[in-house]
Amino acid sequence: MDRIAIVGGAPLNGVIPISGAKNSALKVMAAALLSDQPLILENMPNLADTRFMADLLSSLGVSVDWPAGDSTATLRAREIVSTIAPYDLVRKMRATFNVLGPLLARVGHATVSLPGGCAIGARPVDLHLKAFEAMGADIHIDSGYVKAAALRGLKGADITFPFVSVGATEHAMLAATLAKGRTVLRNAAREPEIVDLADCLNAMGAQIAGAGEEVIEIDGVESLSSARHRVVGDRIEAGTYAIAAAAAGGDVFLKGAQAAHIAALLQKLEQAGVDVRPQGGGVRIARANGRLRAVDVNTEPFPGFPTDLQAQFMALMTLADGVSTFKENIFENRFMHAPELSRLGASIAVHGNEAQVTGVERLLGAPVMATDLRASVSLVIAGLAAEGETEVNRVYHLDRGFERLERKLGDCGARIERRQG
Ligand code: UD1
Repeated sequence: MDRIAIVGGAPLNGVIPISGAKNSALKVMAAALLSDQPLILENMPNLADTRFMADLLSSLGVSVDWPAGDSTATLRAREIVSTIAPYDLVRKMRATFNVLGPLLARVGHATVSLPGGCAIGARPVDLHLKAFEAMGADIHIDSGYVKAAALRGLKGADITFPFVSVGATEHAMLAATLAKGRTVLRNAAREPEIVDLADCLNAMGAQIAGAGEEVIEIDGVESLSSARHRVVGDRIEAGTYAIAAAAAGGDVFLKGAQAAHIAALLQKLEQAGVDVRPQGGGVRIARANGRLRAVDVNTEPFPGFPTDLQAQFMALMTLADGVSTFKENIFENRFMHAPELSRLGASIAVHGNEAQVTGVERLLGAPVMATDLRASVSLVIAGLAAEGETEVNRVYHLDRGFERLERKLGDCGARIERRQG
């Protein structure tokens, strides 16, 4: 298994290009199932997760033309040849569950494995299923599989989510595009990825209004057609490199980052003493010598501080001056990085969904173990700021969500390398 080795202490200077958003790419790829016409996706991130989704879609009948390393993919679901997403696939990557809604909308039935829990929490899908039931689908759970049927088609429905769910909002929106009549989604998630998915679906001929707001209205259409869509930039990748630059010091331009998408993070970085400058086409992050100030973080749905940047920001705060409190409100078990950061000398006390980080003067490199995608990149960030060598094991987590991580950081002066085997 590959490992990533980092010798800390080198500042980051230069330009880091931001890739297309993984969390958006996976959902717009699922949109290809809704039409028999080609969907051309640009700015696609080349990641283990997006390639995995392409394989699943192929098994359902989608032709995928996406040469290795290319950022443009053409997907065409001329005919659906299977409506089954087996456990082995869905277990490995939760976003594959999102083929259920499009299959249901296009062919009237689907059998998709329940995703199960994962390292960061239970992550149920009850809101997704309730939304489909409201649209007239029959849902049965049998031997770990969701069997869904709407043989006479889905019907528009008025759905109020009891709490904000990105996954359920996206999934309901996908399915509602082909339902009969109007669907209204209330208390919808407002993440930029929701807006991106709506833009893609509207380019295909869907009638969606209000994406990015709390109420989304979707007027169902008979069919969707061909479209070309550019995947939105990855705000989590941009935020991660902003935090990396703050941790290592230096001056980095995040090319393609949209300040409005990471406003909650940029505000925290400024409060901590980092120089943040949104400029044309990106955001500049600079930090001179000297310790940062401790600031508190509460994770919330967009536009609040994203759960997907909590681990990275915690790595930064391990070296800040003072005590910072982290409250994780989205997932119940998302502090797995804390004991690993402690191996480098961080002082972190976890109580339930709160963690208290007391900044230390320095971290010392050590071998560490990645537990999930965002946790592993937080260990890379800590490694950039630590003295000596940090070796991050189980790098496959990083490969799921960060395109050319060691190249992007290495090009800015980080001493980072991948070790094989
Ligand atoms: C969440 C994050 C998203 C992040 C992704 C990957 C939020 C609001 N969502 O999206 O930003 O990119 O993880 O880390 O920050 N839930 C249910 N039943 C459901 C669906 C969700 O109880 O049917 C719960 C989840 O367990 C969680 C909360 O609702 O506690 C929010 O979940 P949701 O937004 O759906 O999760 P993801 O779509 O995975």
